[in-house]
Amino acid sequence: MTLLSEGRTHDCGELREADVGSEVRLFGWVQKRRDHGGAVFIDLRDRYGLTQVVFRPDAEAASHEAAGELRSEFCIGVRGRVDSRGDKKNPKLPTGEIEVTASELTIFSRSETPPFLIEDDIDTREALRLSHRTLDLRRAPLQRALRQRADVLRAVRSVLDERRYLEIETPFLVRNTPGGARNFLVPSRLERGSVYALAESPQIYKQLLMCAGFDRYYQIVRCFRDEDFRGDRQPEFTQIDIEQSFATEEQIYELIERLMSRVFAQVLEVPLTTPFPRLTYEDALARFGTDKPDLRYELPLCDVTETVRGCGFRVFAGAVERGGKVKALRLPGAAPSLSRKDLDGLPALVKEVGAKGVAYARIQAEGAWQAPFAKTLDDEVKARVNTETGAEEGDVLLFLADGALVVNNALSLLRQHMADRFGLIDSERWAPVWITDFPLLERTEAGQGSEWTACHHPFTAPHPDDVELLDDPTRYGDVRARAYDFVLNGVEAAGGSIRIHQPDVQQRVFRALGIDEEQARAKFGFLLDAFRYGPPPHGGVAIGVDRLVMLIAGAQSLRDVMAFPKSQKGHDLLSGAPSPADAAQLAELGVSITAPPPSGGDG
Ligand code: AMO
Ligand code: AMP
Repeated sequence: MTLLSEGRTHDCGELREADVGSEVRLFGWVQKRRDHGGAVFIDLRDRYGLTQVVFRPDAEAASHEAAGELRSEFCIGVRGRVDSRGDKKNPKLPTGEIEVTASELTIFSRSETPPFLIEDDIDTREALRLSHRTLDLRRAPLQRALRQRADVLRAVRSVLDERRYLEIETPFLVRNTPGGARNFLVPSRLERGSVYALAESPQIYKQLLMCAGFDRYYQIVRCFRDEDFRGDRQPEFTQIDIEQSFATEEQIYELIERLMSRVFAQVLEVPLTTPFPRLTYEDALARFGTDKPDLRYELPLCDVTETVRGCGFRVFAGAVERGGKVKALRLPGAAPSLSRKDLDGLPALVKEVGAKGVAYARIQAEGAWQAPFAKTLDDEVKARVNTETGAEEGDVLLFLADGALVVNNALSLLRQHMADRFGLIDSERWAPVWITDFPLLERTEAGQGSEWTACHHPFTAPHPDDVELLDDPTRYGDVRARAYDFVLNGVEAAGGSIRIHQPDVQQRVFRALGIDEEQARAKFGFLLDAFRYGPPPHGGVAIGVDRLVMLIAGAQSLRDVMAFPKSQKGHDLLSGAPSPADAAQLAELGVSITAPPPSGGDG
């Protein structure tokens, strides 16, 4: 019998004082070797924990000698006896009461010196970690995050299974329908010149499943989007995708609240208070400048546009004249700690969203303003702003004057920055919120063909009171959608909507989007056909698994909660994807590449 065929008796996180005296077999990796007065100490690691193993010269000479060869990351098996550590216990380690005195050692395999330490906090470049991801994944934070990810999915499945949602798979290779998120394309070999798209989400298929009578569907599904990279996006990511027939918003809210409560109770042992608060899109923008507000802290914005209209400070008055807005952010008690230099550094923080400056005022005794532009404003205007913002002595007011979008984006950034800077974020706190009443349509960025696009997707139902507005192009911007987002600690963790199921409403939305009947048929004919045979009213939602797990694991990046993520530039640094295609492959596909060979990497 070899150690391997006998098998392990315990994992490396399991042994306690009560096991003292038993004979055990442990398998794992050498975390560390220390030699002390003839004895060799090993921290043996597997995904469950660490156990101290000691090889004593007097216990078993052969294995003691072999232990001298051990190096970090050797994969080994050990037989031994559990001994108490007596007064040398390590309270930081769950197995710290005991050690295993080895009587037999098998080296399963040796390891070269790893390019970085397998420890919790290392300052290794991320690119190096990603290109040695197998070693990186041995580190405890990643082991923990992936375990939590599995725990989240298990909790979600348990609720959905209890409630009789049926798990159904939908295709990844789908029809290419340009217009939404940018798709990855897959050339067809059998039909040269044609392409599939990789599904950006199962949206249309899950609606077809409702038409097919499946009633309650879910799928834990990979989605593919060829987007520009930002911190909280990946080109392939996972959704918990849900659709339900005869659904109302209230039912979807209740379902997600139940799912989140179960997830938080099981994974973090944290109770969530339900129902979650709700905020309309309009209120969210007005008060926080964003539709993803972090409600772990206050710091509401205040619109002072009307108050400063025509005032003596031309930055304010000019913005109002041009149809823009002036909004203020009050920082209670911040005057003593924000230096002139801090304040003068603020414009640099908001340049990225197009802001041209940040005006500030320190509030002094009796509400007087200390500000570079204080003299240009009437006392009455200042007093009104004080009242509206609630400003008091010792506060600082920050102002942004510009178009509404820039004002909101910039103040939202400043709000986050100040919350960080003043330590207002309680990391133990969870602040879920529903954002409701999104607009149905938004103006397309210039030069993208039609004038309006769907904020969510073209199948989202308009608010019943607003359907008539779809006949008046001047009112498109006012149509509210039956769409909702679930935002957690300032991160959009899920989104969905009640869908259109009446062909005439769908047609009106297509018309507003500049999609004529022929185009609609070409793109979505298969959905429109299904709608001809008694489609049920339906709606649904999709949870972004990676974002949710990132929050739960306290991770800084989506890459820290995915086993094999893409780098910031979209590379798989482990395998080297994407890579040039072989000429023969391309010929078979009837594809020719015109771009020059790529250069540059992730450094
Ligand atoms: P949506 O596009 O809002 O909706 O996506 C739903 C959720 O998926 C997550 N998510 C992402 N996560 C990581 N990387 C990305 N690139 C990325 N893009 C989106 C977000 C988001 O809230 N079919 C609809 C859902 C529906 O209407 O039911 C959809 O895909 O957490
Ligand atoms: P300026 O007249 O450009 O010297 O700006 C005077 C003050 O107003 C400076 O403190 C600027 O940072 C600030 N400021 C400039 N543009 C804006 C703006 N759009 N919103 C708020 N403050 C601004």
